[in-house]
Amino acid sequence: MALTSKPLSSDTWPAFARLVEKHNGIFGGCWCISFHLEPGEGKRGAAAYRAMKKARVRKGQAHAALVFDGPDAVGWCQFGSPAELPNIRSKKTYDEGLRKLPDWRITCFFIDRERRGEGIASLALREALRYIAQLGGGTVEAYPEDYTGEKTSNSFLCSGTLGMFEKSGFRKTRKIAMRRWVVTRRVPPKRRSTPRANYGPSIHQRPLA
Ligand SMILES: CC(C)(COP(=O)(O)OP(=O)(O)OC[C@H]1O[C@@H](n2cnc3c(N)ncnc32)[C@H](O)[C@@H]1OP(=O)(O)O)[C@@H](O)C(=O)NCCC(=O)NCCS
Repeated sequence: MALTSKPLSSDTWPAFARLVEKHNGIFGGCWCISFHLEPGEGKRGAAAYRAMKKARVRKGQAHAALVFDGPDAVGWCQFGSPAELPNIRSKKTYDEGLRKLPDWRITCFFIDRERRGEGIASLALREALRYIAQLGGGTVEAYPEDYTGEKTSNSFLCSGTLGMFEKSGFRKTRKIAMRRWVVTRRVPPKRRSTPRANYGPSIHQRPLA
């Protein structure tokens, strides 16, 4: 079956929630909220994080490209403005070397554990960039890990791999931890042809034959 992508929204919340619940809340109850939180806002339970995430989705304050196989969400790539996603990893080192905030950040991926290694994260990244273009484009930053030529635990790679981003046109800007890089690219805006075309779903062939 062809994989499709849709933005995270109130319409796609039930599919997103099913994927999170299938994985016990992700990291035991994070609900993909941690990058949204300012320092001191953390340390709540899974039920509170679920409610916070749902409220953000309803208000349009949580963005992600969701990848679907039929009715089921099988993964996502989270993105948003620095105001929406203030809490990145290695933030102290990041802030020390910061010259200008980007327009957008890509902070986190999650792929159904039964569907890893099929190129779904790479597809979700491409779709996130497409949605960013539809939302006006601009400078995009991400914070992937460099495990080139090595295997590591999948849970270390929630911000993606350096290779994935370099293949999508990102360039290394600076290192903020032993294996963690700031990578950057510009995304040109994509003009809407019709109002419905903006931020709309698309259909893709499977990324791998
Ligand atoms: C890391 C993760 C996103 C990769 O998803 P995926 O769909 O299997 O990735 P893809 O098949 O698109 O592969 C993307 C790249 O990552 C590399 N990669 C994937 N898993 C890897 C691993 N464990 N070690 C090293 N590289 C890995 C692939 O080789 C590929 O590299 P390439 O582009 O050079 O070929 C997935 O394993 C995952 O969801 N992990 C859990 C993340 C998490 O805990 N998130 C919680 C939210 S904070």
